[in-house]
Amino acid sequence: MTLSEIERALIIKKIREFAHSRWTLGPLHGISHWDRVFENGQKLMTAEVNPLVVGLFAYLHDSCRMNDMLDLEHGPRAAAFIDEIRRTQLAEVPDEEIELLKEACRLHTVAAKTGNSTVDTCFDADRLDLWRVGITPDPERLATEKGKEIARATDYAPLINSVTFLGHE
Ligand SMILES: [Fe+2]
Ligand SMILES: [Fe+2]
Repeated sequence: MTLSEIERALIIKKIREFAHSRWTLGPLHGISHWDRVFENGQKLMTAEVNPLVVGLFAYLHDSCRMNDMLDLEHGPRAAAFIDEIRRTQLAEVPDEEIELLKEACRLHTVAAKTGNSTVDTCFDADRLDLWRVGITPDPERLATEKGKEIARATDYAPLINSVTFLGHE
């Protein structure tokens, strides 16, 4: 079953609202970060990347954090959560996408690159938002060519300064 662009957008919108509705931590890893990860994913998109996986990753990868500190288990926890909501919130998502989504969530805190273009795009969509915590995304540590290009072409200093002054809202 192939989903249309509109069907994909509706599924992602539903998951955005669902994840946001159960979020209890602050903005550092919350909806504003998720929206930027989604936007980064759009910029990183290529023909071989699965757009539904990248869109769902934006809204689920940090959704099971238990704190805004290290919490290294939040990736595997998100993968287990995807199994929990597989037959409800994610009922329309094909198995192939579910597997890629779980892999991207599970590994995003521990792996630099997997060689799978969809999973690697998820990683870079997240890491291109590191400036929000005062870290300049390092092109050498990004997983995709597009990610490296974007990191090289972006002046992160003004962005980092803006969060220093404004906080993470
Ligand atoms: Fe994360
Ligand atoms: Fe994240």
